[in-house]
Amino acid sequence: MLAWGIIGTGDISERVIADLTGLPGVRITAVWGRTAERADEFARSHGIPFATASRDELLARADVDVVYIATPAHTHADIAIEALAAGKHVLIEKPIATSADDAARVYAAATAAGRFAMEAMWMRFNPLHVEVLDRIRDGALGEISSVRASFGTPFQARGRVLTPAQSGSILRDRGIYPVTFAHWFLGAPESIVATGVFDEGVDIDGHTTTEHGAAFAQLAWSGIRFLDLTATVSGEYGWITIDPMFWAGSRARVHAGSVQKIFGSPEMVEHPREGNGYGPILAAVTEAIGRGELEHPWHTHAESLAITRTLDAVLATMTATARSVR
Ligand SMILES: NC(=O)c1ccc[n+]([C@@H]2O[C@H](COP(=O)([O-])OP(=O)(O)OC[C@H]3O[C@@H](n4cnc5c(N)ncnc54)[C@H](OP(=O)(O)O)[C@@H]3O)[C@@H](O)[C@H]2O)c1
Repeated sequence: MLAWGIIGTGDISERVIADLTGLPGVRITAVWGRTAERADEFARSHGIPFATASRDELLARADVDVVYIATPAHTHADIAIEALAAGKHVLIEKPIATSADDAARVYAAATAAGRFAMEAMWMRFNPLHVEVLDRIRDGALGEISSVRASFGTPFQARGRVLTPAQSGSILRDRGIYPVTFAHWFLGAPESIVATGVFDEGVDIDGHTTTEHGAAFAQLAWSGIRFLDLTATVSGEYGWITIDPMFWAGSRARVHAGSVQKIFGSPEMVEHPREGNGYGPILAAVTEAIGRGELEHPWHTHAESLAITRTLDAVLATMTATARSVR
């Protein structure tokens, strides 16, 4: 049985715990919250035997093998490095960190400690994305020519995403999904054109065109307006579109394979979501740690670092060209 400790008692912890509870080979033994009251309340409502407001106390426990870190992004690197130094494996919420330098520090610490570390990029483990990626890598679309993906809604983003002191960023919070999706098919860009809107130093809206040899990606993200919530990969033989919300998608349309499928009725690929959708990544991490792996082949340190470098480069380009609203 792999014993999980939880660091953070916020919204995403609630949703992830619901999927972690009852997963084969898993028990949840401890939780850390910013206050003892909140940690106790969270522990009580999820049947977790130990709660604390001291991270040192949680990390010193022998009955914690792996910690799931779900605090605001600017705290991820330091907390992950504390946990690795205490000998724990780590699963760190996205984004892994607020800079590639910090992400590199986390992965170097994991390698030095001989412990598993991964960014919780759950989209990569979603059964629909696994099938779409496998089909495309098996040649369903031939050579890839472009990727288009966007994630934007005008609904109030959470405070942490908009707070300059917390390195708030809609790019890192939402744009990470389109950027990660494009990386799967095109890798790191050779050139980037990007612009965005900043409010008190926080990027709240942006878009980029990235070039990858003859191929390109058009990616957009926003916390202030709707952008369609789909993602499309196009290639020599047609295209595949993942329906909204693409990062958590359960249905894709394959416009390839015959004239009828391209222009008439595409093939539907469906994988209905189970629970909150985090079961696949949590099972994959549990199994990888059980096998003694230090990283997962589906979302490696190198891949996560490359994506974080792209986020840094897009943000730097946006900063240079931005329209500021305040
Ligand atoms: N995978 C997904 O689908 C998904 C979805 C949403 C979010 N996320 C990611 O999950 C992470 C947490 O998001 P969330 O929405 O759960 O955040 P949240 O509700 O704002 O806070 C999460 C936890 O971090 C604590 N916290 C706040 N500021 C802190 C600080 N400076 N140092 C240490 N802990 C602090 C909060 O304590 P208090 O309760 O005392 O404030 C809370 O326990 C983010 O990285 C986010 O990008 C992932």
